[in-house]
Amino acid sequence: MNFSPEFLDEIKRRVSIVDVIGRTVRLKERSRGDHWGLSPFTKESTPSFHVLEDKGFYKCFSTQNSGDIFTFLIEVEGMSFPEAVEKLAGEAGLEIPRDTPEDQERHKRRKGMADINEMATLFFEKSLRLPEGRGALEYLKNRGLNDQMIKHWRLGFAPDARGRLRAEMKREDVPEEILIEAGLLRVPENGEPYDWFRGRVMFPIQNRRNEVIGFGGRIIGSGEPKYLNSPETPLFQKRYSLYGMNHAGAIARKAGRIIVCEGYMDVIGLARAGIENAVAPLGTALTDEQLRDLWKVVREPVLCFDGDTAGQRAAARSAERALPLIQAGQALRFAILPKGEDPDSLVEKQGKAAFDKIIESALPLSEVIWRQITNGRMPNTPEDRADVQQKLDDRARDISDPTFRTHFADFFSKKLWGTSDRQTTRGGGGQKYTKNKGKWGNKWGGKMEGAVQVDVGSEMSNIPSPGTLQERIMLATLINHPEIFDTVEERLGMIEFSVTDLDNLRQQVLNTLVASEDLDSSRLRDHLSQAGFEHVLRTLLSKNVYMHAKFARPDQSTEDALVGWNDTLGRYTNKFLETELKQIEAEAALGEDTSDTAFGRIKALKAT
Ligand code: UTP
Ligand code: MN
Repeated sequence: MNFSPEFLDEIKRRVSIVDVIGRTVRLKERSRGDHWGLSPFTKESTPSFHVLEDKGFYKCFSTQNSGDIFTFLIEVEGMSFPEAVEKLAGEAGLEIPRDTPEDQERHKRRKGMADINEMATLFFEKSLRLPEGRGALEYLKNRGLNDQMIKHWRLGFAPDARGRLRAEMKREDVPEEILIEAGLLRVPENGEPYDWFRGRVMFPIQNRRNEVIGFGGRIIGSGEPKYLNSPETPLFQKRYSLYGMNHAGAIARKAGRIIVCEGYMDVIGLARAGIENAVAPLGTALTDEQLRDLWKVVREPVLCFDGDTAGQRAAARSAERALPLIQAGQALRFAILPKGEDPDSLVEKQGKAAFDKIIESALPLSEVIWRQITNGRMPNTPEDRADVQQKLDDRARDISDPTFRTHFADFFSKKLWGTSDRQTTRGGGGQKYTKNKGKWGNKWGGKMEGAVQVDVGSEMSNIPSPGTLQERIMLATLINHPEIFDTVEERLGMIEFSVTDLDNLRQQVLNTLVASEDLDSSRLRDHLSQAGFEHVLRTLLSKNVYMHAKFARPDQSTEDALVGWNDTLGRYTNKFLETELKQIEAEAALGEDTSDTAFGRIKALKAT
């Protein structure tokens, strides 16, 4: 079903987003039209979910999900796009425009194809249990899969004969032309249609609604091609789909982590080892559409690559591809496996913990780009550096998000020239370089893939601006009351502070308290002093901070400390949003489409 943008806009104008979301999420109005509630995307105790009536827009600061009324019904309530439109059109008192006959025809074909794929899946599942499927079943058992897993992934067997599926479908009166269009039958130059998948273990590929949209078929034992996949069809467009997303999506969202590996058996092997948040592209390199989809699930997907040169090249390609797509607040990591292993073989031989470790140590996007450009060694002659700088500048030009571009340029500048201000240290090398600093300047702390940060102007001055004051208050409160750590850990781990010193301290506190949970305040301070933060602590645990936040003081109750901390974080994240909205408005003023969520979804959903 196709809906015109005008029609969707009309719905948005007529239906209150606060009404729609308010049925699922308890919202509180903080100021006119500005509503907050607990995120429906994650478990939390402090509201980070924000709904703006006038803009028809929501944003979750814990998970970075954002969207409009349509995406809300799709992503939170699990509706399909047409279902969401139908429901909201009803509320708006609008009649759904009638499809053209071609639309109706296409819709019918898609639906027909999904039904037929379902029948084929059942046939393959059944065949696996027949005597002729014994070899395939044995193969799967040898790969460590039990009946329950086989059922879960709907694995099956395509008999090794030219007309078995065809005959079965004929009995069911399935029109042959749809089987051909679905890629299940093939028509030779002059002859009878024959089964495309023969003598293979079958992996049905499902969309988020668990509809089978296509198949991968693996040869049993060795032979070429190892995997055969369905062709592109109106229902199966490889660039939009990720294998395993129907199972992994919700789990990954909850865990805040999604792992992208190479193939079907990796996804299944990882799940078998208890790692259920993995997906894979369908025999192709990761596409832009897939990347965007991954960022809708988590802020920082982890891509997994083989340790061989092909894997390295694939990693480099994905890194390049990510640059034009990445937005402020998004990030990407790259896990490199030992040579000769894929995720499936690694967990099989070394277990889950070994794989987890590799994921933990995954490299940030910035580091992959850096290694790619420098070939892994620090350039040490002026010529080398200038050359690397040139390449970095070229890369930076690929980045479309201004905030991220600024951060990127600055990150590498520091790495390359030892300071963020290249022009003062380059010693007149004569390189042309136009500073491309966004409105937030270059004083960001922490790693480069940060959430949007504001209020960075105070590093130089002695009078803290509200942002840095809030950063100080949160740190001081936690250092004086480490017993609140359990409650604040996750959220403190997700933000980044704008001032480098404070962000370093933030990370140190997190690391220290994660390592030894029961540290009391005085021992925590000792640790931090030893780690070189004595000076920062002195300015932090001071009257200057306490006079703004009594609850931060050591003599206050834990409860007051926690309430105060939560409140401070609330104000702090609120500032992010203001900045983000300003940016959205600025872009809107430039005529860019900012409400692309609905239309982006339409595109994606058309494909599934
Ligand atoms: P691999 O050859 O590494 O296969 O291809 P694998 O996943 O380890 O498979 P097993 O463990 O031998 O069963 C990686 C992925 O590339 C795609 C498949 O998605 C595969 O899982 N591929 C590979 C194809 O689509 N066609 C092929 O011929 C080979
Ligand atoms: Mn493998």
